[in-house]
Amino acid sequence: MTRVLPALALAACLGAQPPKLGQRAPDEFAGKQHTLLLIERGSCSPHSAQVLNEAAERLATLETALVVASDAAATAKYRSECAAFLIDKDGILRRAGRPGPQARDLVDFVDLWRIGKENFDLACKRCHGVDGNLDDYPKIKKLGGIGNRLTPEEILSRVYPVELTRDEITVRSHLFTRRELDALIVYVSGL
Ligand code: HEC
Repeated sequence: MTRVLPALALAACLGAQPPKLGQRAPDEFAGKQHTLLLIERGSCSPHSAQVLNEAAERLATLETALVVASDAAATAKYRSECAAFLIDKDGILRRAGRPGPQARDLVDFVDLWRIGKENFDLACKRCHGVDGNLDDYPKIKKLGGIGNRLTPEEILSRVYPVELTRDEITVRSHLFTRRELDALIVYVSGL
């Protein structure tokens, strides 16, 4: 009995945690696509059917399926009544947030992450590895799970961006636009 109790307490505690970035999402979605999961319930002002249809069409071009859940089980699992979760094709949670009301806000939520990945692969992968966890390079730090311990602002400060102009920023001698840099931080946060 004494051995069971701590285990139960731990399970209850884990159950109360919101899903973590860079870790397996509570749901598995079939197919070789990413999933944008919207949890919309209760106080949440839901996206209209028209917005969802338009977003679904545009997300399909980004290899992403749109799924809306408004049942109590989903809100319990994701600890939220009103949020969006980007789950990649391998079932890993990559981004959580509250996109705006328009279709383009939903599309952008996924697109920014995608742009971030492209730039990470170009400028960062050779040292940090494809999943951010390579540690061959001297004194390097693993990036996996970084979004759970640091805010986007803190992550940004740790890449030492050098602002040339308002829209031209270099990081480790790669030139980025503001949007590309934002995207990079979104992507790194989900590693
Ligand atoms: C030449 C190898 C190299 C490249 C390329 C590189 N990094 Fe790093 N990165 C490092 C090393 C070494 C560290 C640890 C020392 C430090 O913090 O600067 C690090 C640290 C970091 C940290 C801080 C991690 C922490 O836990 O504090 C972040 C975030 C990061 N890198 C992101 C990036 C991003 C984004 C890119 C691409 C734009 C990138 N890195 C490109 C070598 C590299």
